[in-house]
Amino acid sequence: MKFFVDTADVAEIRDLASTGLVDGVTTNPSIIAKSGLNFFDVIAEICDIVDGPVSAEVAATDHETMLKEGQKLAQIASNVAVKVPLTPDGLKTCKVLSDAGTQVNVTLCFSAGQAILAAKAGATFVSPFVGRLDDISRDGMGLIEEICTIYANYETFETEVLVASIRSPNHVIESAQIGADVVTVPPSVLRQLFKHPLTDSGLEAFLSDWAGSGQSILGS
Ligand code: E4P
Repeated sequence: MKFFVDTADVAEIRDLASTGLVDGVTTNPSIIAKSGLNFFDVIAEICDIVDGPVSAEVAATDHETMLKEGQKLAQIASNVAVKVPLTPDGLKTCKVLSDAGTQVNVTLCFSAGQAILAAKAGATFVSPFVGRLDDISRDGMGLIEEICTIYANYETFETEVLVASIRSPNHVIESAQIGADVVTVPPSVLRQLFKHPLTDSGLEAFLSDWAGSGQSILGS
């Protein structure tokens, strides 16, 4: 399973990427606006840090303008994945960009029917938003299971399921149990995944016993 981080915070990306566990990055217009940074500059910087796909989202809603925006974003770096919304114009744009060899992430997916359309449009990734479905008392992870089952039925569907709008480590674990291809996680959730109280207390005891032994691994 691939791990993407869902942020435009360059310091966080740099720090998490240094673990060797980050396979890509996703952003959206809200994340970019919140960062206060120039869209093109920050995407270029992130693309330098991470080798894998970096999602940059179009802001237009009509096909012609979306296509121009997508082509411009794709020129920033070879690892840009153009993000388009799951609308008729978005999927039309996805098809043209995908046919031209550009990676496309179809975002704002909330149903299995929409995910089928994204696969038919040749999307590299489809992003179902689990947290936002849970927020309205719908079954976010149930949708991931449904999409993965459908995609597995068709060899011609090469679209990867990118679980988005993740709110907790449980979303990541359940995504892995289902076999989703990618999760995009806020940095805080990725950090939470490392943690377990028994790891902390176990390490503390090991270190204290080791100190009592009076030995040093690098010392002599
Ligand atoms: C994914 O690409 C989206 O940017 C993101 O996961 C949305 O998450 P949110 O629902 O927490 O805003």
